[in-house]
Amino acid sequence: MIIAIDGTLASGKGTIATRLAAHYGLPHMDTGRLYRATGVAAMRAGVALDDADAIAALAARLDPGLYEEAELRTAEAGVAASKVAVIPEVRTALLQLQRDFAHQPTGAVLDGRDIGTVVCPDADVKLWVDADLDARARRRHAELTASGATISLDDLIRQLRERDERDRSRKDAPMKMAADAVLIDTTHLTIDAAVEKARAAVDAVM
Ligand code: C5P
Repeated sequence: MIIAIDGTLASGKGTIATRLAAHYGLPHMDTGRLYRATGVAAMRAGVALDDADAIAALAARLDPGLYEEAELRTAEAGVAASKVAVIPEVRTALLQLQRDFAHQPTGAVLDGRDIGTVVCPDADVKLWVDADLDARARRRHAELTASGATISLDDLIRQLRERDERDRSRKDAPMKMAADAVLIDTTHLTIDAAVEKARAAVDAVM
């Protein structure tokens, strides 16, 4: 059973992925973490974020275990991730890692931007998780504020819009809903209700 979950930033896809993995007893890969780690590796090494060859080399020998969660979760790491993610050689370097994870005997849950379209076009279930920009920004703002960060809601809306735009418009593996994905719009849903919908979609193919 391979469950592919894609969607926009702060739509709730990560939480849905974590909860589905726990419910069905499947391993889970947050693939954004690979791109974040690549971005942080580049920043640590002082490599420019558009130096395709140097960053592809970093991605090819990436050890995601070397990075602290807190370092990967910053807004700066997210921006760096979306910049290195436009480089085709970086995507190629990270592809096999994701496919190997997906095709382990137990099956797996993967969440990202191109899982249903590129990484696992053969996934048993594909979910596309989205919500209005405003709702996503408000949620992320509450999370960031709770963790002590100070950013205005307007700045956050601008950041989310820019990152979504970069993810949607890149040539290689742009973020998009797979034709056979089930849409979960979380704008007016609690997380429990969103997970319930996701489970119904999985149970329907089991
Ligand atoms: O999901 P997260 O915010 O951690 O992802 C960070 C960035 O990594 C995304 O904005 C996107 O540019 C990139 N990414 C990607 N393909 C994936 C997962 C993440 O391009 N499968």
